[in-house]
Amino acid sequence: MLLRTVLLLTLMAQVLMLENGLLRTPPMGWLAWERFRCNIDCDEDPNNCISEKLFMEMADRLAQDGWRDLGYVYLNIDDCWIGGRDVQGFLVPDSKRFPHGIDFLADYAHSLGLKLGIYADIGNLTCMGYPGTTLDKIEQDAQTFADWEVDMLKLDGCFSTSQERAEGYPKMAAALNATGRPIAFSCSWPAYEGGLPPRVDYELLTNTCNFWRNYDDIQDSWKSVLSILDWFVSHQNILQPVAGPGHWNDPDMLLIGNFGLSFEQAQAQMALWTILAAPLFMSNDLRTISPQNMDILQNPLMIKINQDPLGIQGRRIVKEKSDIEVYKRPLSRQATALVFFSRRTDMPYHYHSSLSRFNYSGSRLYEVQNVFTGETISGLQNNTNFTVIINPSGVVMWYLYPTKNLEISKLMSQE
Ligand SMILES: *[C@@H]1O[C@H](CO)[C@@H](O)[C@H](O)[C@H]1NC(C)=O
Ligand SMILES: *[C@@H]1O[C@H](CO)[C@@H](O)[C@H](O)[C@H]1NC(C)=O
Ligand SMILES: *[C@@H]1O[C@H](CO)[C@@H](O)[C@H](O)[C@H]1NC(C)=O
Ligand SMILES: *[C@@H]1O[C@H](CO)[C@@H](O)[C@H](O)[C@H]1NC(C)=O
Ligand SMILES: *[C@@H]1O[C@H](CO)[C@@H](O)[C@H](O)[C@H]1NC(C)=O
Repeated sequence: MLLRTVLLLTLMAQVLMLENGLLRTPPMGWLAWERFRCNIDCDEDPNNCISEKLFMEMADRLAQDGWRDLGYVYLNIDDCWIGGRDVQGFLVPDSKRFPHGIDFLADYAHSLGLKLGIYADIGNLTCMGYPGTTLDKIEQDAQTFADWEVDMLKLDGCFSTSQERAEGYPKMAAALNATGRPIAFSCSWPAYEGGLPPRVDYELLTNTCNFWRNYDDIQDSWKSVLSILDWFVSHQNILQPVAGPGHWNDPDMLLIGNFGLSFEQAQAQMALWTILAAPLFMSNDLRTISPQNMDILQNPLMIKINQDPLGIQGRRIVKEKSDIEVYKRPLSRQATALVFFSRRTDMPYHYHSSLSRFNYSGSRLYEVQNVFTGETISGLQNNTNFTVIINPSGVVMWYLYPTKNLEISKLMSQE
């Protein structure tokens, strides 16, 4: 009886764990979709169509322009790469746009120290109408991706039923595991179920996927960023606890470097996504991105905060009547990150506050670093009043850590 119980528990534990060991911190890289969509017209637009040329050029930029060394290592293909299935049912890429095959692109990425991600869909068709990975094709396609030495799979959910998704996502997780190749698994599953319990079982999700899209696709506008942020904040009591090493909420790609965001809004998306412990997938043109946008995306302290090993997702902790909001993320070694975010539309706002308002313990002195400007404030106490000036639709972001214990410093000054 005892043996049976132990066996049963062991089995359950195996079923309940996604133990591929991957993505202990949120994934970082580049994903084609938001910027390049399903542009397949290589005659009209050879430099921007979904093709191996586009991915090789982005790979070169990732490797040569500092991205890879900061952690942006995933080079991810999205929809519109598929040419069809061969006579044996194997997926094949479009032969005109990917003449050397996906295995060639994976080799190319690996030769530059990058990883390659690919896209499939659990329904009859992908969202743009290419062949889907129906339930009967899951094992075959997982094996194909492993044979190509792909490192990540995004599995979309267009043209599928809720029942097919409930069966298909766990089946794909098992099929990827059975290939023996570590392949990070990105699931669009919850986004197709409204993103919330009871239709979404977040415990099951953390045991099935490395990260997941909870909500709508991002579009190249500030309105879209705000609608995603609003949804994540209004459901933070559900979403915040389910994130952690190996399993992340995904509010979707970074728009920075495209057309829809002002400078302030670009900084705000970066800061807020970092507080949310979000995957940092840029979807932009790395061949033409401005130095100013590169600075936002390549801020080493920002990336250190996003990649904090504790992997705790942050929360909105204060919403002022003045339309200032404060977000806080706990970090390792007692550090924290604070984002002061202005939803105002008038002028730079002088926000007066103190750390005690954000529940910082009074017994410590804090060293504060402004994440964007690098300015520091030393010896900030919980009851010290401070003012931050926040631009409309902008942020001020702080990295704080306790320098010394106030009691100790008092004792020492008495000596
Ligand atoms: C497959 O799952 C087992 C058990 O959870 C785990 O130990 C192993 O590392 C996994 N392998 C891959 C390739 O994901
Ligand atoms: C998928 O295709 C099958 C067979 O043609 C069809 O019966 C089913 O309704 C389709 N499912 C969806 C969700 O479109
Ligand atoms: C501070 O802590 C109290 C008591 O735990 C809590 O009710 C309040 O929401 C917290 N405030 C912030 C800003 O975290
Ligand atoms: C702030 O510090 C004071 C005095 O050091 C202390 O009494 C108080 O509890 C602290 N407030 C918070 C929120 O930690
Ligand atoms: C901080 O600001 C509050 C509210 O404006 C005020 O009551 C308090 O006296 C100030 N504290 C200090 C130490 O200046």
